[in-house]
Amino acid sequence: SPSMPTYTQEEVTKHCSIEKGVWVTYKGSVYDITEFVSLHPGGNKILLAAGGALEPFWALYAVHRQDHVLDILSEYKVGEL
Ligand code: HEM
Repeated sequence: SPSMPTYTQEEVTKHCSIEKGVWVTYKGSVYDITEFVSLHPGGNKILLAAGGALEPFWALYAVHRQDHVLDILSEYKVGEL
C-alpha cells in the first residue's frame, strides 16, 4: 500500500502495551491491533507479540495459518516497515 506511512522498528517497539497501543509486524507491514486484543480467541497471549513480529508466534500456533486470520489482520494495517 504505497499510500501508507513507513515506520521504523524502533517506533513499532514503543507500542508494546494497551496503554501505549499494541503494534505488531507481519511480512513487512505494521498493524495497530490495540482494538483486537480483547477480541482475540487466544486471549492475552497475543500481547507476547506486542511491539514485535508475529512470525515466531504464528509458527508455533498453527491455528493462524488460515485465510480468515489474515483477513482479520489486514483490517488493522497502519503502514509498512
Ligand atoms: C487463536 C487471531 C496473535 C495465540 C486465534 C484465532 C484467531 C486469532 C482469529 C482463532 C482461529 C480459529 O480458531 O479459527 C490472531 C491475530 C493475531 C494473533 C489477528 C495478531 C494480530 C496471536 C499470538 C499468539 C496467539 C501472538 C501467541 C503468542 C493464539 C492461540 C489461539 C489463537 C493459542 C487458540 C485459541 C483457542 O482456540 O483456544 N488467533 N492471533 N495469537 N491465537 Fe491468535
